[in-house]
Parts: sequence; structure tokens; C-alpha cells
Amino acid sequence: MHESADNRLSKKGFLAWIAESEAFAPEEKPRLAELVRALERELSEARRRHVCSVALTGDVLAQRFGVDRTRVLLASLGHDLAKERTDLSVEEWREFAPAQIDAGVLAVPALHHAALGVVVMVNDYGVEDPLVLSAIRYHSTGCAGLSPVGRVLFVADYIEPLRRYAGRAQVEAACAGSLETGCLEVLRSKLVYLLARNRRIHRASWEFWNELVSLGAENHAQEE
Ligand SMILES: [Fe+2]
Ligand SMILES: [Fe+2]
Repeated sequence: MHESADNRLSKKGFLAWIAESEAFAPEEKPRLAELVRALERELSEARRRHVCSVALTGDVLAQRFGVDRTRVLLASLGHDLAKERTDLSVEEWREFAPAQIDAGVLAVPALHHAALGVVVMVNDYGVEDPLVLSAIRYHSTGCAGLSPVGRVLFVADYIEPLRRYAGRAQVEAACAGSLETGCLEVLRSKLVYLLARNRRIHRASWEFWNELVSLGAENHAQEE
């Protein structure tokens, strides 16, 4: 990774980056800084660095594809915030967020933190922006109709440089083309992984797949 990007993975460097950048909405900067400090309290160091790396990757993608950088940053900082919250359970919060916590989420523990991330962002940080909240809710599965903010987070969470996975070159090449081809390759990689291990696949992922294919993302991916 680039040296300056490395510096920004520290809490201090990340806070300085937000404070100095004119790209982020000034009225959101206090909340952004609060979230950066929360990462250190709520997450292991490895996961905190992953979240910062997702945010930096998401910001590059947001600039590349003309997506709102403040929303992408908010969604990135919140996406795994509930991942180590052992005091929260989806059963307990099901009534609060029935649209977020469906049967498909309940059945897959790995998806619980995405729904609970919405609960934490609303209750603890006063985030109400539906684009930010839906990006967090669907950051693992994707879904049909996912907004550009959600698509950037879906891709950034997977391609951030600290994550190890097979087929990185192919996925990164697709992400250079368009947000749709990037999503298609990330989703293909996730589905292949889950299928090979006989794991459950959330309905939203198949709906996202069908949407991307009918948008022609597959054709574009094959042309490159
Ligand atoms: Fe996650
Ligand atoms: Fe993540």
C-alpha cells in the first residue's frame, strides 16, 4: 500500500485526513470523527484497520464513479461497527428493524452484524440517511436496487488491500471498468465461495445477481 495510505490507517492519521479534506460535508465532520474514535473502542485492531482500509478504498471508488464521498465514508465507518457487539442480538432488535432483520438474516450469523450496524448507527450516532443505512444493511449480500453508495461499499469491503482472497486481479480489473462490473465480479467471487462450501445464500444476493446480469454488467465484464 502507498505510504500515505498506511499513515491514514492509524486513528490519528485517519482523523487528520478527515479534518483536512474539503471533500467531506463540514456539518458531518464531528460525527465522522466520533465514529473513527468509536472504531478503536468497539473493534479489534485488525478489524479497525480493515474498516479504515475500506473507507480509503471506498473514497477512491467514490471519486472514480462520482458518488457522494461523505455518504460513502459514513457507511464505510459504520459497516462493521456492530461486529464485535456481544450485547446486541438480532432477536432482541427484530421489532425495531423488521425490514432489516428478515428470516434470511436470522438464519445466517455472519449477516447479523450488518442489520445490527443499522441499529447502532441510528441509536448511538443519530444517522438517519436511508442511503447510508441501506448501504450498511446490504454490504455483505448486496440487493437489487442497491444505491451507488451501497455499491461502492459492497465493492470496497471486498477489494480493500488488507483482505486476502483468490482472484484479486480479475476483481480489481472489473472494478476499474464500472461500478456494475465491479459488483458483478465481487458477487461472483462471493457466490462461488459460498456454493463450494454448501453455505446458505441470502435471497437478496440472487436478486442482485439477476439485476446486474440484466443490466448487461456481465457483457461489459467479458469485453474487458
Ligand atoms: Fe461486514
Ligand atoms: Fe467489512
